[in-house]
Amino acid sequence: MKKSVWISGIAGFVGSNVANKLVKLGYDVNGCDNLKFGYSGNLDPEVKWINCGFEQVDFDFLRKYDVLLHMACANIIYAMENVIDTFKVNALDSIKLVELYNGQIVYTSTSSVYGNASHIPTPESAPENVSNAYDQSKLILERYLRLRSDYTTLRLSNVYGKNQRPENPYCGAIGKFIDSAFKRDPIKIYGDGQATRDYTYIEDVVNAIIMAIDQDPKNTEINIGTGVETSAIDLANMVNDAVGVPRLATHTDARKIDRISRRCLDISLAKALLGWEPKTKLSEGIENTIFDLNLWK
Ligand SMILES: NC(=O)c1ccc[n+]([C@@H]2O[C@H](COP(=O)([O-])OP(=O)(O)OC[C@H]3O[C@@H](n4cnc5c(N)ncnc54)[C@H](O)[C@@H]3O)[C@@H](O)[C@H]2O)c1
Repeated sequence: MKKSVWISGIAGFVGSNVANKLVKLGYDVNGCDNLKFGYSGNLDPEVKWINCGFEQVDFDFLRKYDVLLHMACANIIYAMENVIDTFKVNALDSIKLVELYNGQIVYTSTSSVYGNASHIPTPESAPENVSNAYDQSKLILERYLRLRSDYTTLRLSNVYGKNQRPENPYCGAIGKFIDSAFKRDPIKIYGDGQATRDYTYIEDVVNAIIMAIDQDPKNTEINIGTGVETSAIDLANMVNDAVGVPRLATHTDARKIDRISRRCLDISLAKALLGWEPKTKLSEGIENTIFDLNLWK
């Protein structure tokens, strides 16, 4: 029998894709979102959810669900200016949530916990190197879960695809790059463009999350990425080429969040423990994302 799933941050980029897919597959899904960074329009009409913070949920109701998928959080850009609130939501209130829930937990953490990683591709055993309120608060919940057990933590690398909306000030690079290309504006690159990231397509991430829900808890952290490194300038060129516009890009000063020079995850543990591996090449994922963003306009 399929497990029932309750999702915090259900109307966000990743949460909405997971919820829409689970409902299509026939799972009993419910969740909440305070819409601070998400959009109700991301969710298919069949998805049940309530508009509130996870801090306000009725725990007797939540405990009826087999799995808590905890995705709600303050994001890295917001965290730069809102340190206290970031620790409150991502660490303190999140600990209260998982403390009061006694079933299986799937937690979406972040590859940001490796900072400027000591090894590329980076395995889960690499030292954590947190440097801002986002990384630190995400890591605090990871560590709390290690004490609790009955959990699977997925350390996601940069995710892109459907529902990553360019009008959202916290939108990731690929959504913004496609938007600039559509407008025939030069793509804005922070820094010299040589910094790399590991871009994972949303459908692959959704599959990893569903595998973690379906399987028994792994009680450890698992990288979810592709093992492929792409520089910002190469990404900008790929997006401009895919949209069919000249390769225009401008460089501007790196922000505080751009201090990571290389990111690329070792995904052997995901293959070994979950049986997961990504299926979508970056070029294909960019094409799909362009198609989805075009449907919106
Ligand atoms: N998108 C990525 O590239 C990426 C990379 C690494 C990790 N992650 C992790 O994946 C998860 C989802 O990320 P995302 O990109 O979908 O972010 P998102 O901001 O689109 O989604 C988070 C959702 O949580 C909601 N939210 C925030 N605080 C809340 C609260 N107190 N109560 C209820 N809802 C609240 C927001 O409104 C938003 O809809 C996060 O845990 C994030 O750390 C994402």
